Amino acid sequence: RAITLIGAPTDVGASVLGASMGPEAMRIAGIAQALRARDLKVLDIGNLVGPGNPQSPAHGGFRHLDEVVAWNRTLYAATLDTLAAGRLPLMMGGDHCLAIGSISAVAQHCRSRQKRLKVLWFDAHADSNTPQTSPSGNLHGMPVACLLGHGPSALTQLTDTFPVLRAAQIAMIGIRSVDASEKHFVNEHHIDVYDMRTIDEMGMRAVMQSVLSDVDENTHLHLSFDMDFLDPGVAPGVGTPVRGGPTYRETQLCMEMLADSGALASVDLVELNPALDIRNQTAELAVELLESLFGKSTLMREPR
Ligand code: ARG
Ligand code: MN
Ligand code: MN
Ligand code: MN
Repeated sequence: RAITLIGAPTDVGASVLGASMGPEAMRIAGIAQALRARDLKVLDIGNLVGPGNPQSPAHGGFRHLDEVVAWNRTLYAATLDTLAAGRLPLMMGGDHCLAIGSISAVAQHCRSRQKRLKVLWFDAHADSNTPQTSPSGNLHGMPVACLLGHGPSALTQLTDTFPVLRAAQIAMIGIRSVDASEKHFVNEHHIDVYDMRTIDEMGMRAVMQSVLSDVDENTHLHLSFDMDFLDPGVAPGVGTPVRGGPTYRETQLCMEMLADSGALASVDLVELNPALDIRNQTAELAVELLESLFGKSTLMREPR
């Protein structure tokens, strides 16, 4: 398999600055070398270029809409090119607003190849705000709503088909912070949410079995992984930490089970914030998780 690393160094969708340094921290933690050791062909195409962070207040319910659109258009094109070349795009963010561009491209690719797309949203947050419900105007809190067709047209229509996703194509795992008005959106759309209480009650293995139960040979699995999914005790380098998240081992189990599915075909690794990290430990953790995601395990296991 061949992987393309796509750096998207921006924090225009967040209020806390620093996710823009994510790609470089991942490189320093040795992402390319670690994946090459998994026998993967890795090409790091470097960083995409886009507007800086104007640090301006919200206008019409959004902060930095023009900048977020510019970054997502560029990422959309880079992701589509990577998929067309038969390679797996691994987007190194950057904040989570970037999932609008990456997933719009993945959806477009799946449509042309008649693949079934399923998106796994690993996050402490539901990222389902609309400009009407958002308490902050930050677009990293809105990508799921945009992908489901609710948001500014410049972001909901990066690709031809509208909406990009149907709610049944998303599963959310690790959720523990949802704004009051955001809840209505999640409930109204019947999004499949495995929140922290569900994980506590079912256990991570059963959660992942359920999440993966409808995956078949024709499924393209997209992983959108927000580093704040993890408990901030193990992953302190994030801008919007929420305590009570999954442990190191629970998260590794998720990655190992995703690897076993054999269906993983594109990845977002977002919200890593080196400015808030401790000696790059959260970037190093991200690299360890990616190693598992691409098949590293203690012993070789027969695929199930
Ligand atoms: N719900 C909050 C908001 O809309 C926080 C979102 C955090 N999102 C993230 N991708 N870290 O502002
Ligand atoms: Mn997120
Ligand atoms: Mn989050
Ligand atoms: Mn809708």
